[in-house]
Amino acid sequence: MCAIAVPSISCKAPQVTVIGAGKVGSTLAQRVIEKNLADVVLLDIVEGLPQGIALDLYEAQGLEGHHKTILGTNDYADTTGSDIVVITAGLARKPGMSREDLLHYNAKIVVHAAREAMERSPQAIFIVVTNPMDVMTYLTWKVTGLPVNHVLGMGGVLDSARLRTFIAMELGVSTGDVSTLVLGGHGDLMVPLPHYCTVSGIPITELMDATKIQGLIERTQNGGAEIVSLLKTGSAFYAPASSVCHMIESLIQDQSRLLPASVYLQGQYGLTDLFLGVPCRLGCRGVEAIVEIPLTDAELAQLHRSAASVRDSRDQALSKLSF
Ligand code: NAI
Ligand code: 2OP
Repeated sequence: MCAIAVPSISCKAPQVTVIGAGKVGSTLAQRVIEKNLADVVLLDIVEGLPQGIALDLYEAQGLEGHHKTILGTNDYADTTGSDIVVITAGLARKPGMSREDLLHYNAKIVVHAAREAMERSPQAIFIVVTNPMDVMTYLTWKVTGLPVNHVLGMGGVLDSARLRTFIAMELGVSTGDVSTLVLGGHGDLMVPLPHYCTVSGIPITELMDATKIQGLIERTQNGGAEIVSLLKTGSAFYAPASSVCHMIESLIQDQSRLLPASVYLQGQYGLTDLFLGVPCRLGCRGVEAIVEIPLTDAELAQLHRSAASVRDSRDQALSKLSF
């Protein structure tokens, strides 16, 4: 083969590091490469796990017809120069474990992962998935010292996708025609906003009565628990992985999608110094704008209740960590 001299363009594909090769991490890695979005580095603490998943996925490359590579590793050195880092490493709650135990356990894992990844990819945008997600996003921002537009958490895209599905199921319409919005922390106190939910532009309040809507809101608030009670051995991962992938697509391709994400608030919605789910514009510079939409007094009060709960857990986590 002979080389041809041409003016050079960058040959480097975007690189996404996924920390945690469990259910969410491995499914996300698959989504990212099979959509031809970026090369992936999949990292886990368990030896052999990320290597096995990566090899399995790579062996499907020709069949799936994509062009992206995937590397499985236990070594942060391999994550060097990533454009996006996604943190999914952590534990799910186990029998006998309190929420507080989980909080402190995952806080240690996330802080370590964020530090290690940040050292190798100081320009990266960090997306946090590990629960309790809004708190873990705050810790990631704090420990990395990154600018606020480079750290965000995934929760609202998933919660909105669940509500969208439930509305479509109820009305017998395509999910493609349904648009929904859920704000607040990714937990029981999330704030679904029915008057911002539409089907082909028609507010759902014109299509369903208030009792039906309330039922769908509650199902959304329990969406994670509903899957756990069915699976019994773990939590949701397909829709969570799709949700992160949706955010990655907007960032890498500079799509400027308006999506709910957990972002650092500095006075928006009357809230300061915490990460919470609100609508924002995601492009190649990360969180490019936070959008403030009018809320009723009741919705704003709900958002503040959700914020207070996130703030409480955040302070508990901070009290056991030294930065
Ligand atoms: P999983 O248990 O399948 O995977 C977690 C992985 O993290 C395991 O492979 C484990 O070996 C790895 N890990 C543990 N400590 C590590 C460390 N120090 N460094 C690197 N890897 C480490 O769990 P799954 O289902 O993938 O969920 C992951 C996290 O995401 C959980 O905290 C879960 O609650 C959360 N989650 C959040 C969602 C959201 O909307 N924000 C949605 C779904 C899950
Ligand atoms: C979910 O909502 C567990 O946060 C996860 O499914």
